[in-house]
Order: sequence, then structure tokens, then C-alpha cells
Amino acid sequence: MPALGFGTLLQDRAATLGATANALKAGFRHFDCAERYRNEKEVGDALRQAQAAGLVTRADLFMTTKLWNTNHRPERVAPAFEASLVRLGLDYLDLYLAHTPFSFTPGDNQDPRDECGNIIYDYDVTLNDTWKAMEDLVDRGRCAAIGLGDVNLEKLTSVYEAAKIKPAVIQVEAHPYLPETELLEYCKDRGIILLAFAPLGHGIKPGPLQDPVIQKVGAQVGKTPAQVLLAWAIQRGTALLTTPGSAAHARDNFDLAPLPQDAMDAINAIETRQRLNTVVETGVPGFIPRGG
Ligand SMILES: NC(=O)c1ccc[n+]([C@@H]2O[C@H](COP(=O)([O-])OP(=O)(O)OC[C@H]3O[C@@H](n4cnc5c(N)ncnc54)[C@H](OP(=O)(O)O)[C@@H]3O)[C@@H](O)[C@H]2O)c1
Repeated sequence: MPALGFGTLLQDRAATLGATANALKAGFRHFDCAERYRNEKEVGDALRQAQAAGLVTRADLFMTTKLWNTNHRPERVAPAFEASLVRLGLDYLDLYLAHTPFSFTPGDNQDPRDECGNIIYDYDVTLNDTWKAMEDLVDRGRCAAIGLGDVNLEKLTSVYEAAKIKPAVIQVEAHPYLPETELLEYCKDRGIILLAFAPLGHGIKPGPLQDPVIQKVGAQVGKTPAQVLLAWAIQRGTALLTTPGSAAHARDNFDLAPLPQDAMDAINAIETRQRLNTVVETGVPGFIPRGG
């Protein structure tokens, strides 16, 4: 799996086509998708255009998508997986993730709510039940690897210990304000890849991009704050997902260089702590793409 991944959580379907094409041109070959993002078809269109132009082949690409919370019941897993593949225009996946550990009431409504506006959870299915159905996809050769999104250490341990096929990847928020050190150590010890989302802190201001330590390191090494944050993430042993909206940001985010050890030490010593995305607590996305 290329450590540097492009995330396709984009605010509308038109933006998806442009940003995905820019990412492909900049050199990104790892693409993170999700049925919940409601733009798998547009990501697939951009990939097909790049393939038709001779820029990439399927074998060059590392493709991930995610099972949404309303499809956790075992009998819904394979149909959801196959529907994602059709939208993406692929015939296999490199990685399939359970998007979050939370099960919502099954059905076509991805955001089922009661009359008070509260999410309706499905307590009749466990994450281990869902995981077994995902293992079956690997056994049948439909995807190469499976993993989990938005898990804490307790939820990861519970699946890891019961699993026949161990999680290959977990996708969680991680940046210098949320280094997830304990989770990362657990993963490294077991050969699980920690795939960091929001490595630029979702671009939120103030946030890691404006942090004085990051700015100072950038000035020292002649790189932008974004390039410093992404290099730090890779150098500490995580993979990452970034979502540059423009061609210039896509080129910058792909143009990384190693940081000197004193810069790594300075970033590791940042004491600010901030979780930016509450999806790990509720299963409800931080933002929902338009048209969703
Ligand atoms: N599992 C989950 O629950 C979950 C949750 C959230 C995200 N994700 C995944 O993770 C991916 C990445 O998350 P993210 O959107 O938070 O990524 P991110 O890269 O941390 O943040 C994106 C923001 O950073 C800005 N940015 C990107 N490159 C920049 C640069 N070189 N200089 C300055 N600003 C820059 C972007 O602005 P511009 O548009 O101006 O470039 C955008 O506002 C998502 O697309 C999705 O695939 C997963």
C-alpha cells in the first residue's frame, strides 16, 4: 500500500472529478473511497479517464472503499461491497474497511434518525459478525485485505483477538495534536498499518497547519507546513490520507522529503491535544457531502 493516499471525501460530486484527476496527475496511486461519500462513480470516472489516457493501469492503483454503518448485518455486506465495485468500475478491491464500528438500523437511508433527530443504532449485530462477512470476501478473492475505520484500542483489540483474518489496516484521525501513540504501538507490534486521516487537521484554522513548531520546521527545511505534517506522519511509521482540493496542493502534498531528527523531536514534543472529528464516538460523519 503506498503510504501516501488521496482521500475522496469531497464536498460535491463535480469537485470529486477534478480533485481526483489532479491527484492522479500529481502521482497519487492510493485512493480512499466510501459508499457514504456518495461519489464512488465520479472517482471511478476519473480513474477510467486516466486509464484511457495511458496515465495509469489498474495494477498501478491501490483502491480502498468502505462499508457503511447501515450495511453491517452479515447478509448486507457482500451486496454493499459489490455495489461499491460497480460504482467504482472495478472488479476487485485492494482494501475494504468497515467505515466505523457503529451499526445503524439497516436500510437505504444512510442516516436513520428517530423523531427527536437521534441516530437509530442497530444492536442486533456485532462488529465481529460484520467482520466474519468481510473475511468471507477475502476468502472468495474479492478483496486482498480488510480493516477497520474509526476504532479505539478496545474495539480493535476485540476484533483482532477474535478474527481469523486479522485487520491489515486501521483508519483513524491522527496528527501532531492527536498522535494516537498507544494505538500506533499496538499496530506496529502486530503488523497492522495505521492509516491517518486528517493529517493536516482537516485544514481547520487554527490547527496543526498554523502551529508555530510546524511553521518553524517548515522555514528550517524549506518546505510548507503541509509538507512538514505529511512527512512527519510517514516518518513516524503511519500511512496517511490527504485531500488537496487544488492541483497546486496535490503537487505539494506529493512532493515530500525526510525531516531531520531534531525536527521530528520538536514535532513529537508538541503538547497541544485536540480531536477534530467525533465520528469515533458516534459513527456520525464530521460532514456529509452535498447530495448525500
Ligand atoms: N474514516 C473516517 O471517518 C474519515 C473521516 C474523515 C476523513 N477520512 C478520510 O481521510 C481523507 C483526508 O481527510 P481530510 O480531508 O481531513 O484531509 P486533510 O488533508 O487533513 O485536510 C484537507 C484540508 O487541508 C487543506 N490542504 C490540503 N493540502 C494543503 C496544502 N498543501 N496546504 C494548505 N492546505 C492544504 C485542504 O484545502 P484545499 O482544498 O485548499 O487544498 C482541505 O481544507 C478524506 O478524504 C477521507 O478519505 C476518513
